[in-house]
Amino acid sequence: MSSPVRIGIVGLGRLGKRHAENLLQRVPGATLVAAASPVAAERDWARTAGVAAVYEDLPALLAHPGLDAVWLVTPTSLHAGQVVAALEAGKHVFCEKPLALDVADCDRVIEVAHRRPGQVAMIGFMRRFDPGFAEAKRLLDAGELGTPFRLHFDAHDPIDPDGFFVRFAPTSGGLFLDCCIHDVDLARWLLDGARARRVSASGTRLMYPGLADCNDIDTGVATVEFSNGVVASFHVSRTSHRGYEAALDLTGTRGAVSVGRGITALPLVREAGNARHASGLPDFFARFSEAFLHEARAFVDAVRAGGPSPLSLEDAREATRLAVAMRGALASGTTVTLAD
Ligand code: NAI
Repeated sequence: MSSPVRIGIVGLGRLGKRHAENLLQRVPGATLVAAASPVAAERDWARTAGVAAVYEDLPALLAHPGLDAVWLVTPTSLHAGQVVAALEAGKHVFCEKPLALDVADCDRVIEVAHRRPGQVAMIGFMRRFDPGFAEAKRLLDAGELGTPFRLHFDAHDPIDPDGFFVRFAPTSGGLFLDCCIHDVDLARWLLDGARARRVSASGTRLMYPGLADCNDIDTGVATVEFSNGVVASFHVSRTSHRGYEAALDLTGTRGAVSVGRGITALPLVREAGNARHASGLPDFFARFSEAFLHEARAFVDAVRAGGPSPLSLEDAREATRLAVAMRGALASGTTVTLAD
C-alpha cells in the first residue's frame, strides 16, 4: 500500500486517547480518519484532537468510507467480538491485549482470521517493542547469555486511591489475565514460543477488598515450568509503594540480564538526613510510551507491506491460555498441568 493507512480508533478511555495521539501525530504512513466511543465527552475529545469523523459505536465506524484498519482500545470483554466484526468487514485490526478472556473466543477469532489471510491482525503486547526487552531478546538470540533457565518478572501498578482498578476489574479478566499476561507473552517470546507444562499460583486482595465482588486479587505470584526446563516466576500487583514497575531478571548459562529495574520519573536522586529520595514512575505510560509508539509503527508498516502481523494471534491465544491456567491454579489451590 503506498497511500497512508486510514485508521479508525474505537475506545478513547485511559489508553485509547494515548493511542489516538500517537496515530494523529507520530506514526508515519498512518492517518487517523475516524474515532468511536459511546461516551459523549470522549467524542468531544476526539473532535478537539482533530479527528474528522466521530461515531458512537463500532458498526457506524466500520461504515466509514475508505477505512483500511480498526484500532480497538475497548474493554477486554468486547475484544473477541469486535475483532471478528472488523475482520468480517474487511479491515486490518489492531486490538489491545488480551485477545479474549478464554481460549474458545481466541479460537473463534483465529478461525475468522485464517479465512482472511490478506488482513493483518495484531494484539497489543507492546512490551516486545520496549528497547530494554528487545535488547534482552537480541542478546539471547545471539547466544550471548547461553541457555536461559531462570526468568523472574515483576509487574507492579502504583496503589490507586481513586478505585479505578476496582471499577475496571469486572471486565478485565482479573489480575493474571489483565496484567500478568504481558509478562507471560514476554516469557514465551524470549523463549521462542516454548511450551508451558505446569502452572501454580497464589494471591491476596488485602489492599482492595472490593475486588472480592468479582473474585479478583490485587497481588499475585505464579510460576510456570516450560517443557525445555526453564522456570519462570511472575510477581504481579496493583499495590506498589514505589510507583510503576515492569522488570525482568533473566539468567542463562553464560550470563544474565536485568531489564527495567530502578527507573525513576526524573533522572535525579535527592540525598538528605542519611536518606535518598527518587520519584517512581506514575503509570505504565511513563514506562512504555516509546514501546507504544514502536508497536503502532510496526502495525502500520506491516499493513503497508502486506503482512505478516508482527505478533500472531496464536501467540495471543497461548498467552490467554497460560493466564487462564494461572487463574485456575489460584482458584483451585492446585498445580495445573497443561496439555501439549
Ligand atoms: P477504559 O475503561 O479507560 O476505556 C475503555 C473505552 O472503551 C472507553 O473509551 C469506553 O467509552 C469505550 N467503550 C466501552 N464500551 C464500548 C463499546 N461497546 N463500544 C465501543 N467503545 C466502548 O479502559 P482502558 O484502561 O483504556 O483499557 C482499554 C483496553 O486497553 C483494555 O482491554 C485493557 O486491557 C487495555 N490496556 C492495555 C494496556 C497495555 O499496557 N497495553 C494498559 C491499559 C489498558
